[in-house]
Amino acid sequence: MRRTLSRYFIRTISFFGKNPCSYGSLTVSIPRVFSQTYCTSTTFHSADMDLSNMRKKYKGDEECFEESQLASLDPIKQFGNWFDEATKCPEIGEANAMCIATASKDGRPSARMVLLKGYNNEGFRFFSNYESRKGIELESNPYACLVFYWEPLNRQIRIEGNVEKIPYQASCDYFHSRPKSSQIGAVVSRQSTPVPNRDYLRQKNAELLEKYKDTEVPMPDYWGGYIVKPYLIEFWQGQTNRLHDRIVFTKLKPGEEQGELQHMAEGGWVYQRLSP
Ligand SMILES: Cc1cc2nc3c(=O)[nH]c(=O)nc-3n(C[C@H](O)[C@H](O)[C@H](O)COP(=O)(O)O)c2cc1C
Repeated sequence: MRRTLSRYFIRTISFFGKNPCSYGSLTVSIPRVFSQTYCTSTTFHSADMDLSNMRKKYKGDEECFEESQLASLDPIKQFGNWFDEATKCPEIGEANAMCIATASKDGRPSARMVLLKGYNNEGFRFFSNYESRKGIELESNPYACLVFYWEPLNRQIRIEGNVEKIPYQASCDYFHSRPKSSQIGAVVSRQSTPVPNRDYLRQKNAELLEKYKDTEVPMPDYWGGYIVKPYLIEFWQGQTNRLHDRIVFTKLKPGEEQGELQHMAEGGWVYQRLSP
């Protein structure tokens, strides 16, 4: 890994000891001051990080993901198979963490992490604030893309779909199944709006803890669940020789013909292999 460092920076790192940092299977010895400064501060404007040689070793060709290895021709079941393997992998802390991308009405994208809270044949559920940035974007442009990346397994799943709010009662049931502190937290936070400082939130939190100490916290009407109803699900598995595997399932629209390289799957889905 090549780095261009400022003169001050080189002077500083030669003074301090070494601290090993691990990037997947690639282990690089990085001066401690470097790892601290680079990760936490923006004062080294002149440090140009060239990461072009940073690459992880993926699976060998013998461990590739062939069509014959699909656990199911139903992509939701195939998702379940990979998701279960991810939840059993001790190196993966939150297998249900996913990036969700939304876009404003005029097509400007935004993305953030949320937690998957359930899935079935209908789609993938998560909970949030309906008045947050994502909530506002989904209101005017009800489509989203979800991405899971399970680094230790060299796997990524991309899901694209249209988004709907789940029924009020289902949101309520989930809301009240959460710890009381999380319920209060959802009431305190008018997500994505500016606040004067942290104390403002602390104080509001304390007031609500007192207010609801003996009663149930009512679910705010600006909070609830969404379901992403998929029309595309792509399974990606990384290979060391860069011939990564990509198998994409798409839902046939009414009257749509199966494409030349597409294969019939289950439940109105077809699948095909994409070039990596
Ligand atoms: C691992 C992880 C899980 C998260 N889970 C949720 C979640 O389930 N729901 C949620 O509203 N925000 C969740 N957040 C916070 C969001 O990333 C984001 O900050 C928040 O939803 C506001 O996003 P927005 O302003 O784009 O609407 C999570 C963040 C992380 C890092």
